[in-house]
Parts: sequence; C-alpha cells; structure tokens
Amino acid sequence: MSHHATLIPGDGIGPEVTAAAVRAVEATGVNIQWERCELNEEVILRRNEVLPPEIIASIHRTKVGLKGPVTTPIAGGFPSVNVALRKALDLYANVRPVRTLPGVKTRYTDVAIDMIIFRENTEDLYAGLEHEVVKDVITSIKVITRVASIRIAEYAFRYARENGRKRITSVHKANIMKLSDGMFLRCAREVALGYPEVEYRELIVDNACMQLVMHPERFDLLLMPNLYGDIVSDLTAGLVGGLGLVPGANIGEKLAIFEAVHGSAPDIAGKGLANPTALMFSAEMMLTHLGEIEAAKRLGLAVRAVYERGEKLTCDVGGACSTAEFTSAVVKEIQKQQ
Ligand code: NAI
Repeated sequence: MSHHATLIPGDGIGPEVTAAAVRAVEATGVNIQWERCELNEEVILRRNEVLPPEIIASIHRTKVGLKGPVTTPIAGGFPSVNVALRKALDLYANVRPVRTLPGVKTRYTDVAIDMIIFRENTEDLYAGLEHEVVKDVITSIKVITRVASIRIAEYAFRYARENGRKRITSVHKANIMKLSDGMFLRCAREVALGYPEVEYRELIVDNACMQLVMHPERFDLLLMPNLYGDIVSDLTAGLVGGLGLVPGANIGEKLAIFEAVHGSAPDIAGKGLANPTALMFSAEMMLTHLGEIEAAKRLGLAVRAVYERGEKLTCDVGGACSTAEFTSAVVKEIQKQQ
C-alpha cells in the first residue's frame, strides 16, 4: 500500500536528520510519496509570513507530516512557526515518549526510564496574547479552556487503556494558578473517573521536576498543560541522554505531524554531527499512525540494535560517528530483519 506524507526538512540540522529518517523509512519498504515543503527561517523572512498557505494545504491533503525543526527568526516579531502550525491545524496532543536506550551513558545506570509526556498543544501561555498595559508593564495571558483540557486528558487516558499503561500523573501549579490550572486538574479528574483501571495522581510542577530527577523510573504517563510540557520534555530528554534521542507527535482529530523534541541546533548544523535518532523514532511513530505496524517495529528495533552494538553512535551520546554513518548502520539493521 502506498501513502502520501508531507515532508518538511526545516533548517539547521533539520535537513540532515530528515534525510536520515527518510532513508530509514525507505529501508523498511513502505511506499511513501513525499510532498516536500520548504519551511525555514529564510522562507519566513523572504515571504514575511510564518505559515505559507501551501504547507497547510499539503498537510490537509496528505493528513500526515514528518517535520524537521524550524528556526523562529528572532528579529521581525514573528510568532513561533511551530506554535502557529500546531494551532492552525489544531494538533492538540503533543506526545513525547522518553525511554532509556541501551548503550547510552546517563547518570541513571541502574534504572530503566519509560515515560510518555502528553502535553496540551494549543493554548496556555502559548496563546500569544501579550500586551503592554502601560509603559514597562507587560501582561501575558494564560488561556486554559475546559474543551482543550478534557480532550488532552481523554487522549492520555485512552492511550493508557489501549496500551496497557498503568498510571497517569497530572503536573500543575494549581496551588498558585487556582482558576486556570485548577480547571485543568478538574477536567483530568473528571476524565479519570471513566478509567478506573488507570491509577491517577497529581504533582505540583516544581515537585514533579525534583521527583523526575530523583526517581525517573517511577513515572509512567505524564499529563500537563502546554508550558510545563515544553519544559519537562527537555528535562526528561536530559535524563535519557539528551535531545538527540526523544521523538514526538503532534496529533489532531484528522491530521498529525511527527517531529523530534529538539530544535534546529545551529551550533552543530551542517557538520554531519546531528543525531537523527529522535527523528527516526518520530518516523516510527508516523508509521504506526499510518497502520504500518510491522515496518514501525522493524525501524524501532533496528535503531535499538545499533545502540546495543554501540559501535556507530554519534558524538552527543559518546560515539564518534557522523549522521550518515549512524544512518547506514540503522539501514543495514533494517535490511537484516527482512
Ligand atoms: P536545540 O534543541 O536546537 O539545541 C539544544 C542543544 O541540544 C544544542 O547544544 C544542540 O546542539 C543539541 N542538540 C539538539 N538536537 C540535537 C541532535 N539531534 N543531535 C545532537 N545534538 C542535538 O535548542 P535551541 O538551541 O534552544 O534552539 C535553536 C532553534 O531551534 C531556535 O530557533 C528555536 O526556535 C528552534 N526550535 C525549533 C523547534 C521545532 O521546530 N520543533 C523546537 C525547539 C526549538
């Protein structure tokens, strides 16, 4: 069966890691017709718009995207491309699995980390409602709605049920933001009632950060509003070996975009040093979403096998290989499994 998908290489290390992920997907034998769209800092500045309409049209057509990171220009007052894309397409659930990989040295040698972050992706302080009330006084409005809170909670609990996961922890600051985070929690509790087999608990975000660093193995699924999800994602990436490893999905009712947690990493762009693991695992999530379950499994197993061997790893995880050498090792593993 053949599929259509939108491919957004992005910029910085984006073109390098997307090319690597596409090679891995192609090695599985799944036939994907890619619609390639250029969305990067240069395009945004030249066209003076964050979201060229042909990109939105392409994703509406294909329903699925694989995306590299895109740099948000600092000058010019442009909103974040990524926030704009998620909002324009109503990709309300940001799903980020954080797992220990064999052979990656971290501070946690004796525990296995396997958690998934479910981050509300469309509102909170990312609503972009900032203004200067009087000179030198700025407000930034945090928007939390019942509709968005219920649907992300429903998504996380449904995922737990369908995938046999045991526990969901809501992360919040409702002791201070009583109305906004209070609403988020009330919605999560309401949804939890429909899933008695899933253990539900709550942690204040500061305590959650400490617990995550001290006992990451105790966490299963984490449910949170947008900003905490953004910050906690990078924190948890650090627990398992860094941003080069953690994939993600932005899921809506009908559309989905798969992308790594990391950004465009300008410090290593164009040097062949980027670790494409995060985008390969994002591609694995994309294949699962497309119903290509066997191919997804093969891709995931191949990446893990390369880590188990430990010979062809990139510098960020203690190896000495380039993006291309790591990718060739993954492709070889995929071919071995056929
Ligand atoms: P970053 O994630 O790009 O980099 C942080 C650090 O992690 C850097 O030292 C980088 O070299 C390293 N790193 C990241 N990914 C890596 C990989 N695959 N392999 C090896 N090392 C890796 O974060 P930063 O520097 O804060 O952001 C740079 C740009 O990326 C900004 O313009 C930001 O707006 C954009 N960004 C885009 C995102 C997206 O498109 N989804 C997400 C986050 C940031």
